[in-house]
Amino acid sequence: MIPSHSSDPASVRFKGRVAVVTGAGGGIGRAAAFLLARQGAIVAVNDVNPVMAAAVVSEIEAAGGRALALAGDAADEAFAAEAVAEVMLAYGRIDVLVNNVGISVVAPAEDFVAWDRVVRTNLYSQFYWSKAVAKAAMIPVGRGAIVNVASIAGLAAVPNQIGYVVSKHGVIGLTRSLAVEWGRHGIRVNCVCPGITATDLTTGASGMAPDRLKARIARVPLGRMSEADEQAEAIAYLASEEASYVSGLIMNADGGQLALHSGVMT
Ligand SMILES: NC(=O)c1ccc[n+]([C@@H]2O[C@H](COP(=O)([O-])OP(=O)(O)OC[C@H]3O[C@@H](n4cnc5c(N)ncnc54)[C@H](O)[C@@H]3O)[C@@H](O)[C@H]2O)c1
Repeated sequence: MIPSHSSDPASVRFKGRVAVVTGAGGGIGRAAAFLLARQGAIVAVNDVNPVMAAAVVSEIEAAGGRALALAGDAADEAFAAEAVAEVMLAYGRIDVLVNNVGISVVAPAEDFVAWDRVVRTNLYSQFYWSKAVAKAAMIPVGRGAIVNVASIAGLAAVPNQIGYVVSKHGVIGLTRSLAVEWGRHGIRVNCVCPGITATDLTTGASGMAPDRLKARIARVPLGRMSEADEQAEAIAYLASEEASYVSGLIMNADGGQLALHSGVMT
């Protein structure tokens, strides 16, 4: 039967569903957690910063939603398994996993020493959470949606971020591998590749230098940065039943940046 979910009001799109979002204390993850909660989901909010995770849970609850904090390092495989078990104990299901966590360290490749931390956080975490959620919650019921957050740096390189670029290319391979392997279990696996987005990663204290940010924005055909909420909308679409036949998709949400030949606007 063809599902007719597109006529559902947004507020019930995820009604009765449980979603887990990693790195959801700030930025795109926080926006995705809010949007999923506003659209009816119970949201498990992971962040390495317990104060940020608790704050997002409180804000969701204050807005009438339901949420649970999962404070811990998303790149720790044992923690991921324990956190997934905690969600299953609390709610008995996980319908949506958003593998959002990501960090960036800027240094020339020859001096890059943060390889392990960046690759573990950005890539290994996505595998650990996918594996734990699929096994405990999705494979047994034959359904589920996983949305991985990569970057346009997963499709083309930027200088001085080798750990980020390599890990994000890995996320795209992970997405395709899991989509191919878990389709038989009814699990859809997709990936959003955000372009430059206004979050701590870009505009925060340890974000990009203002001149670099300006140069990047100049190469975006839409002529501006994305808001975190716009990335959340892309994530929610792929997580929703409106995308019921979409799997293995690598979806740019980049204001047209990668469509621009040679990166030059004239
Ligand atoms: N902001 C952008 O321009 C942009 C562009 C492309 C892709 N992305 C991707 O979007 C995702 C979210 O980025 P963002 O800009 O919202 O980042 P952000 O820095 O604003 O937020 C990331 C959140 O993850 C948390 N976090 C960091 N390490 C963690 C860990 N080990 N375990 C659990 N939580 C951890 C942080 O405390 C923070 O709350 C990342 O995967 C990033 O690579 C962002």
